[in-house]
Amino acid sequence: MLPTFEHADLSHTPFQRHTGTASEDIITRDAFNTATAEITAWEGYKPTPLHQLTSLAAELGIDDILYKDEGPRFGLGSFKALGGAYAAERVLQRELSKKLDIPVSLADIRNGRYVSEAKEITLVSATDGNHGRSLAWGAQRFGATCNIYIHKGVSEGRAEAMRQLGANVIRIDGDYDASVHLARKEADQNGWFVVSDTSWEGYVDPPLDVMAGYGVMTNELTNQIHTLPTHIFLQGGVGGLAASVCSALRQHWGQDAPRVIIVEPNLAACLFESARNDTITTVAINDETMMAGLSCGEPSPIGWKVLREEASDFIQISDDLVAPSMRLLANPLGHDPSIEGGESAVAGLAAAISIALNPKLRDLMGLDKNSKVLLIGSEGATDKALYEKIMANE
Ligand SMILES: Cc1ncc(COP(=O)(O)O)c(C=O)c1O
Repeated sequence: MLPTFEHADLSHTPFQRHTGTASEDIITRDAFNTATAEITAWEGYKPTPLHQLTSLAAELGIDDILYKDEGPRFGLGSFKALGGAYAAERVLQRELSKKLDIPVSLADIRNGRYVSEAKEITLVSATDGNHGRSLAWGAQRFGATCNIYIHKGVSEGRAEAMRQLGANVIRIDGDYDASVHLARKEADQNGWFVVSDTSWEGYVDPPLDVMAGYGVMTNELTNQIHTLPTHIFLQGGVGGLAASVCSALRQHWGQDAPRVIIVEPNLAACLFESARNDTITTVAINDETMMAGLSCGEPSPIGWKVLREEASDFIQISDDLVAPSMRLLANPLGHDPSIEGGESAVAGLAAAISIALNPKLRDLMGLDKNSKVLLIGSEGATDKALYEKIMANE
């Protein structure tokens, strides 16, 4: 029934989790609560759906599969809408409080109280598409100027979506990590503010805000779920999404939180290599994966601090699983709902199916008839033209 997945070429590294309190200390409960209170007050806020893929679960001999569909998030197509825009709002709050020498609240920024002052502030970031779109949208919403740096692998459709939101889009010849370095350099030279979804030495506030913003999604999830999941498959780029979700789940469910499996493309497996070396590790991106959102060679250090305590398994998948997974979501088994999932959204699904069908890995990862698998469908069809091509099997 699912032959592509039965013979999938997967790499797995089990990981001995470190003990510690990173899930409480890095993104604190307060940070999650502040972000949730603010983002749920934005105009247009609506929780995204949690779908149940009962027929697929039955086919795989497991109890349940839940898929949180982030495609409809704020009309921007991905969970990233929660992070970049919120971090932009927080930079404006901090900078305007300093500049005006008065306490400026998030509600002030949200209500456009200092919109003429905000226009003087330039926010910049590198992106593979989704984070930049969120930042551009936030900058437009809150009145700031926005410059976005993209690498050669980012599709023109994704670049255009950011221009439509008022951002200046600068395309470079190198890869994602080169675009991150250029954004930093130009920000330093011009007095602009980097709003990145990844951290580095001495730079943590915006990426922490980004990860706190993602907590809106996990907060919705814990309200939508009635029985505890046993496994969560989380796709990794720099590790911000995964770190945010596992911190929030640990804070909410404590020892009952699900087993965390990190999934990356084999062309950009920096978290996998970090686990294998038991220390944060950078990998070279030699070819771009079609999972554009996951094409990152450097883990976010604050994300890794959480994952080294929370993740039990690391998986690499190859690009050839992506299109079949997207088509399976769109044309599902039995009475499962039809879902529009983008290339990066389906990495977790692709790994879960392949592992469930692989007797050795299934056993190793404790998947059985009682398992309830949770997946984050992190994006919808963020590049429509590419999506249509994949659906048409071209
Ligand atoms: C759709 C999608 N899923 C997952 C990720 C991975 O998130 P992170 O880079 O925080 O690990 C990204 C990152 O851009 C993304 O766009």
